[in-house]
Amino acid sequence: MSNGFASAADRREFIAGLPKAELHLHIEGSLEPELMFALAERNGVAIPFSSVEEVRAAYAFSNLQDFLDIYYQGMAVLLTENDFYDLTMAYLARVHADAVRHVEIFFDPQGHTERGVAFATVIGGITRALDAAQAQWGMSSRLIMCFLRHLSEAEAEATLDQALPHLERIHGVGLDSSENGHPPAKFARVFARARSLGLKLVAHAGEEGPPAYVYEALDVLGVDRIDHGNRSLEDPALVARLAASGMTLTVCPLSNLKLCVVDDLHAHPLKTMLDAGLAATVNSDDPAYFGGYVNANFIGVADALDLSREELLALARNSFTGSFLPDNEQGAHLAAIDAWNRAHP
Ligand code: ADE
Ligand code: ZN
Repeated sequence: MSNGFASAADRREFIAGLPKAELHLHIEGSLEPELMFALAERNGVAIPFSSVEEVRAAYAFSNLQDFLDIYYQGMAVLLTENDFYDLTMAYLARVHADAVRHVEIFFDPQGHTERGVAFATVIGGITRALDAAQAQWGMSSRLIMCFLRHLSEAEAEATLDQALPHLERIHGVGLDSSENGHPPAKFARVFARARSLGLKLVAHAGEEGPPAYVYEALDVLGVDRIDHGNRSLEDPALVARLAASGMTLTVCPLSNLKLCVVDDLHAHPLKTMLDAGLAATVNSDDPAYFGGYVNANFIGVADALDLSREELLALARNSFTGSFLPDNEQGAHLAAIDAWNRAHP
C-alpha cells in the first residue's frame, strides 16, 4: 500500500506498539461504568442507573453540553483519596498497554470541591497513582489543573489559591467545560497569575467555539498549547500563524465524533491539519465516555483517513515535542520512536 504498510492490520500493529504521549485526558473522563458502580457501592452513593449497560446507553450525546451534564453527574461517586487513586491507576494501567510512555493529565478540582471533597484528597489520590506508574513502568507524567469556564473568574482565583500548597505537583493550568459564551478572555487575570507562579498554560479552544476564541487563548491568555483547535481551520491566517509558531494542538478524534464536532471520522480534519503544517497530536479526551483510549483514537482516524507511516510517526513525535518534558527526555522518546519504526519495516 502507498501508505507504507502491507495492510490495515499491519498499520494497527504498528500503532499498537508506537511509543506515544497523551496530552489531552480528563482523568474524571476515564471513569468506566464498572468502576462507577463499584465506587457507588463502596461509598453508598446512589446513581440514576441500574446497570453498566444502561450507563453506556446513556452515552449518546448531541453536543458538548449534553456530555458535560452526564460527566459532572458521574463524578459524584468520587469521594475518598483511594477513589482518586483507583480512578487514576486504572487509566494509567490501561494506557500502559497502549505504549503510552508519558501522560499530561487534566483534573477538574471545582467538580469535587463544590461537592465537599477536599482539594488535598483529590490531588493526593491522583499523584499517588502517578508516582506508582513512574515506579512500576517508568511512565512520566505532568498534572494540569483546569478551571471550569462556566463558573466565574473569581471562583477560578479561589481554586488557584487552594492549589498554592500543592504547586510542586501541579505543572500547569487549563480551561475546560462549556466553551460557547465563555471566551478565554473571561479568565485573563487568573491565567496571568498562574503564569507569574511559573505554571504552564493551556486552554480548550475551537472545539465548539469560533476561531476568535483561539486568537484569545493565544493573545490574551498566552497559552503554550491549544486543546482541540479544530475550528482554527476556518481561518487561513490563524492556521498560518499556528503552523509558523509550531503551536501544538491536542486533537481528540473519537471525542469529536461523539460530540458531533464531526459527522463521521472520514470527515475528521486531522489529515488537513497535518497537511497544513500544524503540530497536531492524537488524544482520547474522556475515553470512558467516547468509546476508546488513545490507540483506538489513532486506529479510528488512521483507518478513516488512510494515514501513512510518516503521518503516524509525525503524530507520535508531536506528542513528545509538544509535551512539557525537558529536551533530553523528549529526545530519548524520539529515539524510541525511530527504533520502533526501524524494527517494523
Ligand atoms: N471536560 C471534559 N471533557 C471536555 C471537553 N471535551 N471539552 C470541554 N470540557 C471538557
Ligand atoms: Zn478536553
